[in-house]
Amino acid sequence: MRDERWERLTVATEAVRARLAETPVVAIMLGSGLSDAFGVPDGGMRIPCSEIPGFPTPTVPGHAGELWIGRIGRMPILLQRGRTHYYEGGSMDDVVFATRLYARLGVKTLIVTNASGAIRPDLRAGDLVLLTDHINMLGANPLRGPNLEELGPRFPDMSAAYTPRLRAIAREAAAAEKVELKEGVYVATLGPSYETPAEIRAFRAMGADLVGMSTAPEVIAAAHAGMEVLGISIATNLAAGVDPNAALTHDEVMETTRRKGAELRRLIMAVLVRLKM
Ligand code: HPA
Repeated sequence: MRDERWERLTVATEAVRARLAETPVVAIMLGSGLSDAFGVPDGGMRIPCSEIPGFPTPTVPGHAGELWIGRIGRMPILLQRGRTHYYEGGSMDDVVFATRLYARLGVKTLIVTNASGAIRPDLRAGDLVLLTDHINMLGANPLRGPNLEELGPRFPDMSAAYTPRLRAIAREAAAAEKVELKEGVYVATLGPSYETPAEIRAFRAMGADLVGMSTAPEVIAAAHAGMEVLGISIATNLAAGVDPNAALTHDEVMETTRRKGAELRRLIMAVLVRLKM
């Protein structure tokens, strides 16, 4: 099948593969502000996204736009610093390009992180939250259009997209590290405006615990391509109207991310040592 999306992925896959000593087993996507908070592991290799043909360059401040590829412990890892959001104006193909590239490279497991607003009343700014599911309110699905049969089926099952086995490992890792890990359902909105209080009340009634502007497309594309997914969010702020006296700012989001980034890193490291290659 000749499909522009497939060809674009093929060119990028070949360019990255040519630079790889080994295939990463796990890809970790770092969201808003997390790229800096997480830091760059020792050793390995850095590839600016701009050096990968077809790779959309993130435009948001706080998103560095590079891949780090190397080993953490004995595990070959790919770390993505910076991601593309749908609100930036690109296509859904851009938003899920990285996820599909990793699938094509042979990555088996995707760890997605993000910053989110806390909707559920018991959640606090700074909480780490294990994603159990999502509600896609982006008004778009990355699988729209002719199905890329080489990647996956036309109608992929989403009932265990946030892989139960990986969630169990994350709980175990959190307990061992004495990191408090809450759980919740993430609703993805287009943004880039934050939500109104009425929207947040509506999302709460729908069953959402957290709100953010990313992740759902990547998880859909990963599920389509048969990858296992672990999602962890930092609730960086109370969602609009949850504290009637608070206003939302990007600075608050970045500040909480910086404050909690090291703890998220510790949790992810503890997950990685529990994964089998
Ligand atoms: N809403 C949407 N996206 C977000 C939020 C929020 O409150 N916090 C961090 N990302």
